[in-house]
Amino acid sequence: MCGIIGYLGYKDAYPILINGLKKLEYRGYDSSGIAVFDNNGYKLYKTKGKVSELEKKIISGSIIQGTTGIGHTRWATHGIPDDINAHPHVSNSKELVLIHNGIIENYHSLKVILLKHGFTFKSQTDTEVLVNLIEYIQKKNKLSLEEAVRISLNEIIGAYSIAIVERSHPERIVIAKLGSPLALGINDREFFIASDPIPFIDYTKNALYLKDGEMAILRKNKELDLRKILNNHKISPIIKELKINIKEIEKGKYKYFMLKEINEQPKTILDTLRGRLLITDGLIYIDSIESNKDIFLKAKGITIVACGTSWHASLIGEYLLEELARVPVEVEYASEFRYRNPIIKKKDIVIVISQSGETADTIAALELAKKKGAFVFGICNVVGSSIARNVDAGIYTHAGPEIGVASTKSFTAQITVLVLLALKIGKYRSTITDSRYNYLCKELGSIPDKVNSTLKIDDTIKRISKIYHGVNNFLYLGRGINFPVALEGALKLKEISYIHAEGYPAAEMKHGPIALIDESMPVVIIATKKGCYEKIIGNIQEIKARKGKVIAIVNEGDFQVSMLADHVIKIPNVSEELSPLLTVIPLQILAYQIAFILGENVDQPRNLAKSVTVE
Ligand code: F6R
Repeated sequence: MCGIIGYLGYKDAYPILINGLKKLEYRGYDSSGIAVFDNNGYKLYKTKGKVSELEKKIISGSIIQGTTGIGHTRWATHGIPDDINAHPHVSNSKELVLIHNGIIENYHSLKVILLKHGFTFKSQTDTEVLVNLIEYIQKKNKLSLEEAVRISLNEIIGAYSIAIVERSHPERIVIAKLGSPLALGINDREFFIASDPIPFIDYTKNALYLKDGEMAILRKNKELDLRKILNNHKISPIIKELKINIKEIEKGKYKYFMLKEINEQPKTILDTLRGRLLITDGLIYIDSIESNKDIFLKAKGITIVACGTSWHASLIGEYLLEELARVPVEVEYASEFRYRNPIIKKKDIVIVISQSGETADTIAALELAKKKGAFVFGICNVVGSSIARNVDAGIYTHAGPEIGVASTKSFTAQITVLVLLALKIGKYRSTITDSRYNYLCKELGSIPDKVNSTLKIDDTIKRISKIYHGVNNFLYLGRGINFPVALEGALKLKEISYIHAEGYPAAEMKHGPIALIDESMPVVIIATKKGCYEKIIGNIQEIKARKGKVIAIVNEGDFQVSMLADHVIKIPNVSEELSPLLTVIPLQILAYQIAFILGENVDQPRNLAKSVTVE
């Protein structure tokens, strides 16, 4: 997965491209590059490392001027991150310049054909194969760039969003999309291209999301020309007004987006509930559930499919749906689900959960479920994303843009949606009493305030982080609905601080991980009052007997665990079903504080990218 950007208009392209690339770095940041065109040709710069490295290189080189340009920030798939593998890639004649997000699966066989025709390759990338394929087809058949692009793309197996410029025609950019996202901003006499609209919302709010199988020919001072890649049929563009609040994508007073996003959770949970939970009437109203009531009412089973943090939210969803709606639930990794032959029958319910709505494995799982005739319901954050567009029905989490690579606010927003869903289906199926339903609805309404109080434990966690930031391993334990929270806490620490961490169901510790425990091993244990409290006390004693250090998350008023633990983090009391919304907060802050003390780049951890749009 990578970020792509482009500009065609009358303004100087370079500042638009470089600032846009900075906003796309969440998609990848191991190398980047820019090409700016004028009537005499183009200047191209690329370099290993972050966009700031590219900026330094360009400042020390000559200033690039021109009103057409393309840029790319990379997350390596084919070939190591270095200057040569960075995009843009140039064809052998140096006439065509291409940027690409995605993967060309049949690049090897195409490369063999091109080598036979005398083409040479500098990089190890699939993108360099594509730009030369386009050149080969264009020259052989004497075609316009757009026709050569179209024919070449029909030979491609894989996923792409691309932008390509011909040196002798800087007044035109050709773009195309299949599988990877591509947004187009449109102003009077100018076009903006980007993997998401954030880089161009300062300039225009009029945008169009290219659909899979579409390409567009952008020409200076001309109308947008939108076509189908398959047959060149013209398509009427549907341009929509974007509704994005610029404040949501700025760091404000925070050093990192992750910290801002952790602290935003009282608001984001409120936004997720807004208009859906009417506490005073004990009413949950969600259009997409209401209009599919029959399907949910008769559900014999639900499969939830997701990756990473969204998979952890799915495990919490399993607990909630089984507990409150008494529907059997299976949770699957999308990457596993897509490659086996899952038993999904017509009308079965498959829920896909994804923050970005662009995760390649989750999209493939969605498509498989649809092929098998399932009713596919999506829980997504990014409005208009591929998953949001392709499900039969769904709910947006409304957490706002999440820029930090490690998911935080989208996790609590997903859990909030899953609570609403489980309560609503439970009500349909009469598996929950009115009093419990009303109580949980009321309590759900109070969660934003309780998250707010939980955030105040920041100082305690800073102290704990100072003690343990130097260790090599952490263990996270939880039981029942808080076991997935333990998994999530361990994932957060691994992702941003590079400390090895494992999440386990507390009672499983004695079946293996207990061997790791000694005086240098911190064990974070979720020990809230519900959920086998007595058993957890037993687990803590087992750890202490082996000199392990216990960091316990407990409820206010806790006494027993607090007496045993080395460090205690207190959170407000809440019903067990809603507890993950609070227990995860200290674990997010702990990961953040440790990574911060270690001096890591919290928002852009090594080897990761925000949306994994490749397999
Ligand atoms: C972890 C993280 C990833 C994502 C995973 C799925 O902090 O961000 O594990 O949760 O890549 O992404 P989405 O939810 O966008 O499908």
